[in-house]
Amino acid sequence: MPPLSEAIEKKLAARLHYYEDLGIRQFYKDPAVRASAVDASPAMPVAPAAASRVSYEEPPLPKTTSRPNPVVRSGSSQASPAAAPALVLPPRAAAPSLFDAVNKIPGDTLLKIREDLGDCTRCKLHKTRKNIVFADGNPTAELIFVGEGPGADEDAQGLPFVGRAGKLLNQMIEAMGMRRQDVYICNVVKCRPPENRLPEKDEIEKCSPFLLRQLDTIAPKVIVCLGACAAQTLLETNRGISQFRGQWLDFRGHKLMATYHPAYLLRNPSAKAEVWKDLQKVMAVLGLEVKKGKSA
Ligand code: URA
Repeated sequence: MPPLSEAIEKKLAARLHYYEDLGIRQFYKDPAVRASAVDASPAMPVAPAAASRVSYEEPPLPKTTSRPNPVVRSGSSQASPAAAPALVLPPRAAAPSLFDAVNKIPGDTLLKIREDLGDCTRCKLHKTRKNIVFADGNPTAELIFVGEGPGADEDAQGLPFVGRAGKLLNQMIEAMGMRRQDVYICNVVKCRPPENRLPEKDEIEKCSPFLLRQLDTIAPKVIVCLGACAAQTLLETNRGISQFRGQWLDFRGHKLMATYHPAYLLRNPSAKAEVWKDLQKVMAVLGLEVKKGKSA
Protein backbone atom coordinates (compact mmCIF):
# COMPACT_ATOMS: atom_id res chain seq x y z
CA MET A 1 0.00 0.00 0.00
CA PRO A 2 1.52 3.40 -0.92
CA PRO A 3 1.43 6.01 1.88
CA LEU A 4 -1.78 8.04 1.97
CA SER A 5 -0.04 11.26 0.88
CA GLU A 6 1.30 9.49 -2.24
CA ALA A 7 -2.15 8.15 -3.10
CA ILE A 8 -3.70 11.60 -2.67
CA GLU A 9 -0.93 13.15 -4.76
CA LYS A 10 -1.56 10.62 -7.55
CA LYS A 11 -5.30 11.30 -7.51
CA LEU A 12 -4.71 15.03 -7.57
CA ALA A 13 -2.25 14.72 -10.46
CA ALA A 14 -4.74 12.62 -12.43
CA ARG A 15 -7.47 15.20 -11.80
CA LEU A 16 -5.23 18.10 -12.81
CA HIS A 17 -4.25 16.27 -16.00
CA TYR A 18 -7.92 15.77 -16.72
CA TYR A 19 -8.61 19.50 -16.45
CA GLU A 20 -5.47 20.22 -18.43
CA ASP A 21 -6.79 17.94 -21.19
CA LEU A 22 -9.86 20.11 -21.28
CA GLY A 23 -7.71 23.19 -21.68
CA ILE A 24 -8.32 24.38 -18.12
CA ARG A 25 -5.08 25.54 -16.61
CA GLN A 26 -6.23 28.11 -14.11
CA PHE A 27 -8.36 27.73 -11.04
CA TYR A 28 -10.05 30.58 -9.21
CA LYS A 29 -11.07 30.64 -5.59
CA ASP A 30 -13.47 33.51 -6.09
CA PRO A 31 -16.47 32.35 -8.22
CA ALA A 32 -16.96 35.89 -9.60
CA VAL A 33 -13.38 36.03 -10.89
CA ARG A 34 -13.73 32.52 -12.28
CA ALA A 35 -16.99 33.37 -14.05
CA SER A 36 -15.49 36.40 -15.77
CA ALA A 37 -12.43 34.38 -16.82
CA VAL A 38 -14.65 31.66 -18.27
CA ASP A 39 -16.85 34.20 -20.05
CA ALA A 40 -13.75 35.66 -21.62
CA SER A 41 -12.93 32.34 -23.28
CA PRO A 42 -16.24 30.78 -24.40
CA ALA A 43 -14.59 27.89 -26.23
CA MET A 44 -13.17 26.58 -23.01
CA PRO A 45 -15.29 23.85 -21.38
CA VAL A 46 -16.05 24.87 -17.83
CA ALA A 47 -15.23 22.65 -14.89
CA PRO A 48 -18.15 20.46 -13.81
CA ALA A 49 -20.61 21.85 -11.26
CA ALA A 50 -23.13 19.93 -9.17
CA ALA A 51 -24.81 17.26 -11.30
CA SER A 52 -27.85 15.08 -11.39
CA ARG A 53 -25.99 12.06 -12.78
CA VAL A 54 -23.78 12.08 -9.72
CA SER A 55 -20.78 14.25 -10.65
CA TYR A 56 -20.33 12.95 -14.17
CA GLU A 57 -16.82 13.77 -15.34
CA GLU A 58 -14.44 12.59 -18.00
CA PRO A 59 -11.51 11.38 -15.90
CA PRO A 60 -8.88 8.93 -17.16
CA LEU A 61 -9.60 5.28 -16.48
CA PRO A 62 -7.17 3.21 -14.46
CA LYS A 63 -4.52 1.77 -16.78
CA THR A 64 -5.72 -1.49 -18.28
CA THR A 65 -2.66 -2.51 -20.28
CA SER A 66 1.05 -1.92 -20.16
CA ARG A 67 1.06 -0.67 -23.74
CA PRO A 68 1.86 2.93 -24.58
CA ASN A 69 -1.34 4.93 -24.99
CA PRO A 70 -2.38 4.02 -28.52
CA VAL A 71 -4.80 6.14 -30.46
CA VAL A 72 -4.39 5.12 -34.07
CA ARG A 73 -1.75 2.70 -35.06
CA SER A 74 0.17 3.05 -38.28
CA GLY A 75 -0.77 0.41 -40.81
CA SER A 76 -4.40 0.78 -39.81
CA SER A 77 -6.76 0.52 -42.75
CA GLN A 78 -8.72 3.55 -41.55
CA ALA A 79 -5.82 5.97 -41.19
CA SER A 80 -6.60 7.55 -44.57
CA PRO A 81 -5.00 10.89 -45.43
CA ALA A 82 -8.39 12.63 -45.47
CA ALA A 83 -9.11 11.48 -41.96
CA ALA A 84 -5.52 11.59 -40.73
CA PRO A 85 -5.38 11.95 -36.97
CA ALA A 86 -2.78 14.21 -35.39
CA LEU A 87 -1.27 11.27 -33.66
CA VAL A 88 -0.12 8.08 -35.37
CA LEU A 89 1.61 5.59 -33.17
CA PRO A 90 3.61 2.51 -34.16
CA PRO A 91 1.74 -0.74 -34.83
CA ARG A 92 0.63 -2.69 -31.80
CA ALA A 93 3.34 -4.34 -29.76
CA ALA A 94 2.85 -7.95 -28.81
CA ALA A 95 1.56 -6.88 -25.39
CA PRO A 96 -1.70 -8.62 -24.49
CA SER A 97 -4.80 -6.69 -25.39
CA LEU A 98 -8.13 -6.94 -23.70
CA PHE A 99 -9.58 -7.70 -27.11
CA ASP A 100 -6.98 -9.89 -28.79
CA ALA A 101 -8.61 -12.98 -27.37
CA VAL A 102 -11.99 -12.02 -28.76
CA ASN A 103 -11.97 -13.18 -32.35
CA LYS A 104 -14.76 -12.46 -34.74
CA ILE A 105 -17.15 -15.39 -34.39
CA PRO A 106 -18.45 -16.48 -37.81
CA GLY A 107 -22.23 -16.50 -37.85
CA ASP A 108 -22.51 -14.70 -34.52
CA THR A 109 -25.86 -13.00 -33.96
CA LEU A 110 -27.14 -10.48 -31.46
CA LEU A 111 -29.56 -13.10 -30.19
CA LYS A 112 -26.72 -15.54 -29.55
CA ILE A 113 -24.70 -12.84 -27.78
CA ARG A 114 -27.67 -12.04 -25.55
CA GLU A 115 -28.16 -15.73 -24.82
CA ASP A 116 -24.48 -16.16 -23.97
CA LEU A 117 -24.66 -13.20 -21.63
CA GLY A 118 -27.59 -14.91 -19.90
CA ASP A 119 -28.50 -13.80 -16.39
CA CYS A 120 -24.91 -12.66 -16.01
CA THR A 121 -23.07 -12.94 -12.68
CA ARG A 122 -19.56 -12.55 -14.11
CA CYS A 123 -18.80 -9.42 -12.10
CA LYS A 124 -20.00 -7.78 -8.91
CA LEU A 125 -22.34 -5.37 -10.72
CA HIS A 126 -24.93 -8.14 -10.94
CA LYS A 127 -25.50 -7.89 -7.19
CA THR A 128 -27.00 -4.41 -7.36
CA ARG A 129 -28.57 -4.25 -10.81
CA LYS A 130 -32.29 -4.44 -11.47
CA ASN A 131 -31.98 -5.19 -15.19
CA ILE A 132 -29.26 -6.05 -17.67
CA VAL A 133 -29.15 -3.28 -20.25
CA PHE A 134 -28.12 -5.05 -23.43
CA ALA A 135 -28.82 -2.48 -26.17
CA ASP A 136 -31.50 -0.65 -28.07
CA GLY A 137 -32.08 0.16 -31.71
CA ASN A 138 -31.46 -1.17 -35.17
CA PRO A 139 -29.52 -4.46 -35.40
CA THR A 140 -28.33 -3.53 -38.89
CA ALA A 141 -27.45 0.06 -38.07
CA GLU A 142 -24.68 1.90 -39.87
CA LEU A 143 -24.05 3.90 -36.73
CA ILE A 144 -23.48 2.64 -33.19
CA PHE A 145 -23.27 4.81 -30.11
CA VAL A 146 -21.36 3.33 -27.20
CA GLY A 147 -21.85 4.81 -23.74
CA GLU A 148 -20.36 4.02 -20.38
CA GLY A 149 -22.92 2.06 -18.43
CA PRO A 150 -26.55 2.22 -17.37
CA GLY A 151 -27.73 4.82 -14.86
CA ALA A 152 -30.75 4.57 -12.60
CA ASP A 153 -33.37 5.09 -15.35
CA GLU A 154 -31.68 2.61 -17.67
CA ASP A 155 -31.36 0.06 -14.86
CA ALA A 156 -35.07 0.44 -14.09
CA GLN A 157 -36.19 0.12 -17.73
CA GLY A 158 -33.54 -2.27 -19.08
CA LEU A 159 -32.80 0.13 -21.95
CA PRO A 160 -29.76 2.33 -22.60
CA PHE A 161 -29.90 6.13 -22.61
CA VAL A 162 -33.48 6.67 -21.48
CA GLY A 163 -32.76 9.27 -18.77
CA ARG A 164 -31.80 12.94 -19.17
CA ALA A 165 -28.60 12.13 -21.03
CA GLY A 166 -30.65 9.81 -23.25
CA LYS A 167 -33.08 12.59 -24.12
CA LEU A 168 -30.16 14.74 -25.20
CA LEU A 169 -28.72 11.84 -27.20
CA ASN A 170 -32.10 11.46 -28.95
CA GLN A 171 -31.99 15.16 -29.85
CA MET A 172 -28.45 14.77 -31.16
CA ILE A 173 -29.54 11.81 -33.31
CA GLU A 174 -32.50 13.79 -34.64
CA ALA A 175 -30.29 16.80 -35.37
CA MET A 176 -28.20 14.43 -37.48
CA GLY A 177 -31.29 13.64 -39.55
CA MET A 178 -31.97 10.20 -38.08
CA ARG A 179 -34.27 8.62 -35.56
CA ARG A 180 -33.27 6.69 -32.46
CA GLN A 181 -34.57 3.50 -34.04
CA ASP A 182 -32.16 3.94 -36.97
CA VAL A 183 -29.06 3.60 -34.80
CA TYR A 184 -27.81 1.02 -32.31
CA ILE A 185 -27.10 2.13 -28.75
CA CYS A 186 -25.18 0.17 -26.15
CA ASN A 187 -22.69 0.57 -23.31
CA VAL A 188 -19.30 -0.65 -22.14
CA VAL A 189 -20.89 -2.38 -19.15
CA LYS A 190 -24.40 -3.79 -19.18
CA CYS A 191 -25.20 -3.41 -15.50
CA ARG A 192 -25.46 -0.19 -13.52
CA PRO A 193 -22.40 0.67 -11.45
CA PRO A 194 -23.65 1.61 -7.97
CA GLU A 195 -24.00 5.35 -7.38
CA ASN A 196 -23.19 5.82 -11.08
CA ARG A 197 -19.50 5.41 -10.38
CA LEU A 198 -17.15 4.62 -13.26
CA PRO A 199 -17.06 0.96 -14.26
CA GLU A 200 -14.01 -0.73 -12.74
CA LYS A 201 -11.27 -2.56 -14.62
CA ASP A 202 -12.47 -6.07 -13.74
CA GLU A 203 -16.06 -5.18 -14.68
CA ILE A 204 -14.95 -3.81 -18.04
CA GLU A 205 -12.82 -6.88 -18.66
CA LYS A 206 -15.73 -9.23 -18.03
CA CYS A 207 -18.32 -7.24 -19.96
CA SER A 208 -16.50 -5.74 -22.93
CA PRO A 209 -16.12 -9.01 -24.89
CA PHE A 210 -19.91 -8.91 -25.30
CA LEU A 211 -19.72 -5.33 -26.53
CA LEU A 212 -17.03 -6.39 -28.94
CA ARG A 213 -19.20 -9.17 -30.32
CA GLN A 214 -22.06 -6.69 -30.75
CA LEU A 215 -19.78 -4.36 -32.70
CA ASP A 216 -18.32 -7.17 -34.81
CA THR A 217 -21.76 -8.58 -35.56
CA ILE A 218 -23.36 -5.32 -36.60
CA ALA A 219 -20.18 -4.14 -38.35
CA PRO A 220 -21.38 -0.53 -38.60
CA LYS A 221 -19.88 2.13 -40.81
CA VAL A 222 -19.18 4.27 -37.76
CA ILE A 223 -18.84 3.77 -34.01
CA VAL A 224 -19.30 6.88 -31.88
CA CYS A 225 -17.86 6.59 -28.39
CA LEU A 226 -19.77 8.77 -25.98
CA GLY A 227 -17.34 9.89 -23.33
CA ALA A 228 -13.98 8.89 -22.02
CA CYS A 229 -14.94 5.49 -20.65
CA ALA A 230 -16.14 4.10 -23.99
CA ALA A 231 -13.32 5.71 -25.95
CA GLN A 232 -10.56 4.69 -23.56
CA THR A 233 -11.93 1.17 -23.31
CA LEU A 234 -12.17 0.52 -27.06
CA LEU A 235 -8.91 2.28 -27.88
CA GLU A 236 -7.16 0.84 -24.82
CA THR A 237 -5.69 4.16 -23.89
CA ASN A 238 -5.44 6.39 -20.85
CA ARG A 239 -5.20 9.55 -22.88
CA GLY A 240 -7.72 12.22 -22.02
CA ILE A 241 -10.59 12.16 -24.50
CA SER A 242 -10.03 15.80 -25.45
CA GLN A 243 -6.69 14.77 -26.96
CA PHE A 244 -8.31 12.62 -29.63
CA ARG A 245 -12.00 13.46 -29.84
CA GLY A 246 -13.16 14.65 -33.21
CA GLN A 247 -10.54 12.60 -35.07
CA TRP A 248 -11.22 9.53 -37.17
CA LEU A 249 -9.69 6.52 -35.48
CA ASP A 250 -9.68 2.82 -36.23
CA PHE A 251 -11.28 0.10 -34.17
CA ARG A 252 -10.91 -3.39 -35.60
CA GLY A 253 -11.44 -2.02 -39.09
CA HIS A 254 -14.37 0.22 -38.15
CA LYS A 255 -14.22 4.00 -38.22
CA LEU A 256 -14.41 5.30 -34.68
CA MET A 257 -15.14 8.83 -33.51
CA ALA A 258 -14.88 9.75 -29.84
CA THR A 259 -16.88 12.67 -28.54
CA TYR A 260 -18.07 14.00 -25.21
CA HIS A 261 -20.79 12.18 -23.28
CA PRO A 262 -24.29 13.74 -23.32
CA ALA A 263 -24.22 13.78 -19.50
CA TYR A 264 -21.11 15.92 -19.72
CA LEU A 265 -22.91 18.23 -22.15
CA LEU A 266 -25.81 18.63 -19.73
CA ARG A 267 -23.32 20.04 -17.28
CA ASN A 268 -21.13 21.83 -19.82
CA PRO A 269 -23.43 23.12 -22.59
CA SER A 270 -20.58 25.12 -24.09
CA ALA A 271 -19.02 21.81 -25.22
CA LYS A 272 -22.06 21.09 -27.45
CA ALA A 273 -20.48 22.99 -30.31
CA GLU A 274 -17.49 20.64 -30.28
CA VAL A 275 -19.72 17.59 -30.24
CA TRP A 276 -21.78 18.95 -33.10
CA LYS A 277 -18.61 19.34 -35.16
CA ASP A 278 -17.76 15.70 -34.42
CA LEU A 279 -21.24 14.55 -35.37
CA GLN A 280 -21.10 16.50 -38.62
CA LYS A 281 -18.01 14.49 -39.57
CA VAL A 282 -19.99 11.33 -38.84
CA MET A 283 -22.89 12.60 -40.95
CA ALA A 284 -20.55 13.24 -43.88
CA VAL A 285 -19.31 9.64 -43.76
CA LEU A 286 -22.87 8.33 -43.52
CA GLY A 287 -23.92 10.45 -46.49
CA LEU A 288 -26.29 12.57 -44.40
CA GLU A 289 -26.83 16.17 -45.33
CA VAL A 290 -24.60 18.36 -43.20
CA LYS A 291 -26.55 21.48 -42.25
CA LYS A 292 -24.41 24.28 -40.92
CA GLY A 293 -25.37 25.72 -37.56
CA LYS A 294 -28.08 23.20 -36.68
CA SER A 295 -27.34 21.34 -33.47
CA ALA A 296 -29.12 19.66 -30.58
N1 URA B 1 -25.05 6.96 -19.60
C1 URA B 1 -24.45 5.95 -20.27
O1 URA B 1 -23.25 5.97 -20.47
N2 URA B 1 -25.22 4.97 -20.70
C2 URA B 1 -26.52 4.94 -20.52
O2 URA B 1 -27.15 3.99 -20.98
C3 URA B 1 -27.12 6.01 -19.84
C4 URA B 1 -26.38 7.01 -19.38
